Amino acid sequence: MARLIDDLLDVSRISSGKILLKKRREDLVAVVRTVVEDHRAEAARANVSVQFTAREPLLVNGDAVRLSQCISNILGNAFKFTDPGGRISVVLERRGDTAVVRVSDNGVGMDPETLARAFEPFAQSDVHLARGRGGLGLGLSLVKALVELHGGTVKATSAGQGRGTEVSIRLPLVASAPPATEADSPEFPGPPTIGGTCS
Ligand SMILES: Nc1ncnc2c1ncn2[C@@H]1O[C@H](COP(=O)(O)OP(=O)(O)O)[C@@H](O)[C@H]1O
Ligand SMILES: [Mg+2]
Repeated sequence: MARLIDDLLDVSRISSGKILLKKRREDLVAVVRTVVEDHRAEAARANVSVQFTAREPLLVNGDAVRLSQCISNILGNAFKFTDPGGRISVVLERRGDTAVVRVSDNGVGMDPETLARAFEPFAQSDVHLARGRGGLGLGLSLVKALVELHGGTVKATSAGQGRGTEVSIRLPLVASAPPATEADSPEFPGPPTIGGTCS
């Protein structure tokens, strides 16, 4: 209930232009990794495996709380619409000057009509409503608004009912800090590598 009210408040804040983003340089990989870790218990309960893949830090100018909220909404949907034994994969990668997060599941999928309306407020398909577990149909509309406030885009694809869903977010990368000079850092390390799987 608290979450539903929060969603409603956020929608009205966004539509009245009263949402304040606290943007700073953030590693999107770290932000998303934390959200995935926070969903471990839910994954175990739902008997759904979650695989997380990222090769390198992806720096964006963003509000970590709001970006977490976006990923959490998308991941929450993936859990809600994926049956026990299913799989979710969260992949982060750099595409030119853009950071891409892709959350895909092998769950119930979306028909073209649901897909077309998925980001509209209060859009919920009857098929999906039958799965219960609440929600007002505001999650993805909030994701879209918040991502756009970050200068990004969001997209959903599905090959159809029963064939899984992928929701992806693209955000502009910020240029990484200029490399330290040898005088600043005598043992300048190579670029950090991040990777891993959690299920
Ligand atoms: N991973 C997914 N798999 C299948 N359908 C989805 C998925 N994510 C979203 N949808 C569809 O988009 C609708 C809108 O999602 P959302 O805005 O988060 O609302 P809610 O979760 O409250 O129903 C859902 O009701 C469902 O019909
Ligand atoms: Mg939702």
